[in-house]
Amino acid sequence: MGGVNRIDIPPVLVTGATGRIGRIVVDQLLDAGVAVRALARRSAAATTLPAKVEVFTGDLTVPESLDPALKGTGAVFLVWTAPPRTAAAVIERLSAHVRRVVLLSSPHQTPHPFFQQPNPMAVLHADIERLIAATGLESTIIRPGMLASNSLAWWAPAIRAAEVVRWPYGAAESAPIDDRDVAAVAARALHQDGHVGGDYVLTGPESLTQAAQVGIIGDALGNRIAFEEMTPDEFRSLSKGTAPSSVVDMLLAAWSAAVGQPAYITTAVADVLGTAPRTFRQWAADHVTAFTEGSEGA
Ligand SMILES: NC(=O)c1ccc[n+]([C@@H]2O[C@H](COP(=O)([O-])OP(=O)(O)OC[C@H]3O[C@@H](n4cnc5c(N)ncnc54)[C@H](OP(=O)(O)O)[C@@H]3O)[C@@H](O)[C@H]2O)c1
Repeated sequence: MGGVNRIDIPPVLVTGATGRIGRIVVDQLLDAGVAVRALARRSAAATTLPAKVEVFTGDLTVPESLDPALKGTGAVFLVWTAPPRTAAAVIERLSAHVRRVVLLSSPHQTPHPFFQQPNPMAVLHADIERLIAATGLESTIIRPGMLASNSLAWWAPAIRAAEVVRWPYGAAESAPIDDRDVAAVAARALHQDGHVGGDYVLTGPESLTQAAQVGIIGDALGNRIAFEEMTPDEFRSLSKGTAPSSVVDMLLAAWSAAVGQPAYITTAVADVLGTAPRTFRQWAADHVTAFTEGSEGA
């Protein structure tokens, strides 16, 4: 994999390289001929990454563990799902070693009800953005709305088991964005000029209710998938032990606020990439096997 190797830019360090977006950013950078470093908490992660990637073990909760990966790095793709405690120390280290950072954040500043509900992740993202702004780092903030791949964790288990999809707020609208489009924008911001200071709210191209999204997955599978409304309380009790209650409350509040509200849609993907964002129909067609075989997130 990868095009002609570029010698004009130093390596890019991808954090979250084993995660949904980071893993695709790795491939996109390699395709652009960029030398890629990956930060991983476990060295075993190397087996899941392309051989060309230089894997460094390190942990965002142990800031000094990042130093070997940062030395000689030009830009960092920063994904933060760790506790917030060490964010300031990590940003300080980044600014001492690298020129550019691209942060995977969220649209917490967007004045649409879906994005304006109480959300602990939004608080964390805002804090990290402030820390970055206080340094001399060249930065780009990317803010995907709802990732299309969320539907793998949410609905694939029922669909694989040929069960009815039971879910709260079937009428809530969102504009799911294909993870590949998010990663492509991040990769451009990491290796191309013209994105310093960029602040991109990334959405898919159309507003779809959650029930319609399940219907589109059914179309891709060639099956009609039955959808049944679940009460928020039942969702809360079924989610116990699988997701933190703060995340469950955040999702329920966002969906509740999005009923009857067309989703917020931007042209940012097309503006940056020069191509239209992929539709949810396209995403579903490309992920049929994840709904028919394998496990969650496959
Ligand atoms: N889901 C959505 O719809 C949505 C929308 C907007 C924004 N976002 C944001 O997207 C981000 C998540 O991105 P994602 O879905 O690509 O991630 P993900 O699939 O959840 O993976 C998380 C990544 O972070 C790594 N990681 C976790 N703790 C770490 C630590 N202490 N030190 C170093 N690495 C660590 C994990 O590595 P290991 O392999 O070591 O675990 C993994 O590679 C979050 O900030 C979320 O708020 C999500």
